[in-house]
Amino acid sequence: MRIVELRSDTKTKPTLVMREAMFAAEVGDDVSGEDPTVNRLEELAAEMLGKEAALFVASGTMGNLTGVLTHCRRGTEVILGEWAHIYWAEVAGAAALGGISYRPLPNRPDGTMELARIEDGIRPPDLHYAQTGLICLENSHNRMGGAVLGLEYMAQVRELADAHGLPIHLDGARLFNAAAYLDVPAAEVAALADSVQVCLSKGLGAPVGSLVAGTADFIARARKTRKMLGGGMRQAGIIAAAGIVALEQHVDRLQEDHANARLLAEGMAALPGLEIDPDVVQTNIVNVRTTPGRLTAEQFETQMAERGVLFHAISDSDVRMVTHLDVTHSDILWALEQMTDLLAG
Ligand SMILES: Cc1ncc(COP(=O)(O)O)c(C=O)c1O
Repeated sequence: MRIVELRSDTKTKPTLVMREAMFAAEVGDDVSGEDPTVNRLEELAAEMLGKEAALFVASGTMGNLTGVLTHCRRGTEVILGEWAHIYWAEVAGAAALGGISYRPLPNRPDGTMELARIEDGIRPPDLHYAQTGLICLENSHNRMGGAVLGLEYMAQVRELADAHGLPIHLDGARLFNAAAYLDVPAAEVAALADSVQVCLSKGLGAPVGSLVAGTADFIARARKTRKMLGGGMRQAGIIAAAGIVALEQHVDRLQEDHANARLLAEGMAALPGLEIDPDVVQTNIVNVRTTPGRLTAEQFETQMAERGVLFHAISDSDVRMVTHLDVTHSDILWALEQMTDLLAG
């Protein structure tokens, strides 16, 4: 059966070029800084993100946790969106492992938090209060359908953070998607944050890994945090090699995924039983609502899975679809045909 994998951009399989690069990778003990392939990946990432240094970590979750723990002391508080991945889907790691508390604020549909709410959320220096230690932003915003935070908004948060002497950590799991949408280099977005985490294993197609980038001093401290978390890897060049291919070859093609997501959204907008405004789709994530009284999100998921089109329900009425390296234009057309057949039939 033909399968169209829209559950997540984490489902990509390494390409042949990646596998060959992994096979041929020169390696060494990265804990001692002796893996030339990891070193090359970190230098490349730092350059692309416009930061002094970068650190290779096992996952986006580890990258964000490394970032937060490096910025914040125990007993401090992090301001972030209630739908920030760091808050809702990373097992409260900063609280569990770092004694750090979260101050979640409402996320608007475009992924932003109201500036006035952020300002209100920053604690005054009262004896009773936790000290605010960090503001986290997410760009593109996963839960908010891949919405992209604009540079102007990020600059306003930067200004606010600077006024209060606070650092910003950017969860840029899909930063390159955001930059592609904004049509600017990723470094221009990352410049508005002190530290940034980017995933290699989502739309960029690598099997494993993320990078945290920031100043040389921050990354030196983050390296120690990573070691504490058990993330010091040895001959990690084997996986870093695929990451280099991801950064060198798969950034410039992200617009293709965005065009496919848009095509999917426009196709679904014309179908009975589904509700979506294609104009809100900016990157590679498409959230679509099922019309009340027709198929529930779960029924839609199950019945389409029987036809080989895979995606997830994210609530009773909403499903989420994600385009990526392993989904073609023709796959989207075929998925839309299957949906038409199911919903119009
Ligand atoms: C916005 C965002 N941040 C962080 C992560 C965590 O990445 P990982 O699954 O590699 O831990 C994800 C994963 O989907 C994500 O979407």
